[in-house]
Amino acid sequence: SHLRRVQHVLESRCYSTVMAEEAKKLAAYAAVDSHIQNNQVVGVGSGSTIVYAVDRLAERVRQEKLNIVCVPTSFQARQLILQHGLSLSDLDRHPDLDVAIDGADEVDDSLTLIKGGGGCLTQEKIVAGCAKHFIVIADYRKDSKALGQQWKKGVPVEVVPMAYVPVSRAITRRFGGEAVLRMAVSKAGPVVTDNSNFILDWKFEHAQNWKEVNTAIKMIPGVVETGLFVEMAERVYFGMEDGSVKIR
Ligand code: 5RP
Repeated sequence: SHLRRVQHVLESRCYSTVMAEEAKKLAAYAAVDSHIQNNQVVGVGSGSTIVYAVDRLAERVRQEKLNIVCVPTSFQARQLILQHGLSLSDLDRHPDLDVAIDGADEVDDSLTLIKGGGGCLTQEKIVAGCAKHFIVIADYRKDSKALGQQWKKGVPVEVVPMAYVPVSRAITRRFGGEAVLRMAVSKAGPVVTDNSNFILDWKFEHAQNWKEVNTAIKMIPGVVETGLFVEMAERVYFGMEDGSVKIR
């Protein structure tokens, strides 16, 4: 019976992963189909959900012969754009984007986001800030009433390496919780971002005024950017467990 229980747990895990992958795809396809038109400059986010959006974007560019220029938010996004044969640009040449599409780690009721699970928050926020429309795609597990209810890893904060201890202390002194240096999976050293910085994951204890928190953390010397995206997302597409897409 122990074996059967283990098998059951494994099966339900596989089931929920398959569901989540399918949900990511649903959200990504819905967003690309609703927001991408010919002659647009498109910001391409980072993470696992965005992979489906780039798949769909490339398919539409091929089928409909669309003229689309892509601006990446990370090394991963740049590779995705190139692998799909899409046209790659940057903010020097295209500082005004029509739309940016990106994933999120958690989305609350008022469309405040936690981003940066993949460590790309700074470039993601810059690109989103250059876009007329910032569209978010996520599976149902990211859908939350209040930040912290779903995503347990805290708010990522990108810091200049020499400042990670003082920044960590300043954040926790002022806002409580714990701000820990993100380590590589190998544990051999800290995660280094595309901008050669470190990431602190701030595990906060209670809900806060995220707009004020974001501003206050950004004022700490050594902070490059926070993973709090306040008043940026225009619309969020959630792929749901039942195969529908929920738009918020
Ligand atoms: C990377 C991000 C990602 O968009 C976020 O972590 C969501 O990733 P995924 O689509 O894999 O769940 O902010 O810095």
